[in-house]
Amino acid sequence: MDKEQRLKVAVQKSGRLTDHSLDLLVRCGLKYSRGKDQLLCYGENMPLDVLLVRDDDIPDLVHEDVCDLGIVGRNVLEEKRLALADRGRRADLEELRVLDFGSCRLAIAVPEQTAYDGADSLQGKRIATTYPFILGQFLRERGIEADIVTLSGAVEIAPRLGRADFICDLVATGSTLAANRLREVETVLNSQAVIVRTPQPLPQEKQSWLERMLLRIDGVQQVKESKYIMLHAPRTALNEIKRLLPGSESPTVIPLDGFGDKVAIHAVCRENVFWETLERLKAAGASAVLVLPVEKMLA
Ligand code: PRP
Ligand code: ZN
Repeated sequence: MDKEQRLKVAVQKSGRLTDHSLDLLVRCGLKYSRGKDQLLCYGENMPLDVLLVRDDDIPDLVHEDVCDLGIVGRNVLEEKRLALADRGRRADLEELRVLDFGSCRLAIAVPEQTAYDGADSLQGKRIATTYPFILGQFLRERGIEADIVTLSGAVEIAPRLGRADFICDLVATGSTLAANRLREVETVLNSQAVIVRTPQPLPQEKQSWLERMLLRIDGVQQVKESKYIMLHAPRTALNEIKRLLPGSESPTVIPLDGFGDKVAIHAVCRENVFWETLERLKAAGASAVLVLPVEKMLA
């Protein structure tokens, strides 16, 4: 297949999304080898290559059709959308899927001892951020006039350096804030990883690979929590047991040879099965309960 027929996926080079993104593609069946420069992962068993780039560059690479797909935080995407809108341009970046990783929030934080009494406390303050457009919109919507100090990194030390009063930055675990004696006071945007695609139509071959990958991604996301559960129970307990099985549609009921009114029940549960559920199943009459992980699923 010639080069133009290979899907190009932009992924964060090193950061919170990198391992999860590559892991997702591997679970979708991709086997890749890394180029010498470490910036390209060449798909060996499918026409799909991964470009490892700075996360802030991903929206542009996809928007300008250098890459067909991108895996990027909604925070980065939203900032790009607003930046383009500010220049009177529209970002045609369709979000194809929301992924189950990379969750974090863009938040305003203040030095630990600083009093904070609602959004009005932001009035007239200097707020350091690498997200001037998202922050700008947040402030405008609340009628707050503040001074946005746009930095390219190391936002968390800005108050100590006297460059700003407050900060607006990404928070995941909160350890960066804690290490810098900052206290989170407002959530500006909740974010997680999403898949975006180029606004350009894809040639048919690429489009069909894209659709296949999306189906596999759906399957991968579904099985993460899914369990296959098998148990024995008296037929009279069937309804109660069905009710207790989390997120299962129609379980298979199999008669058990030589066991009178006992049946075997097999079900795919689309949620995790906790010990409490097993205890309730047992109390409802279930025995020989087995919970198995689901390896793959194709709806
Ligand atoms: C963000 C943010 C903080 C850190 C917060 O940077 O700027 O430094 O993560 O995470 P924590 O709450 O778990 O400590 P990120 O790693 O996303 O890098 P980038 O913004 O430069 O891409
Ligand atoms: Zn970044």
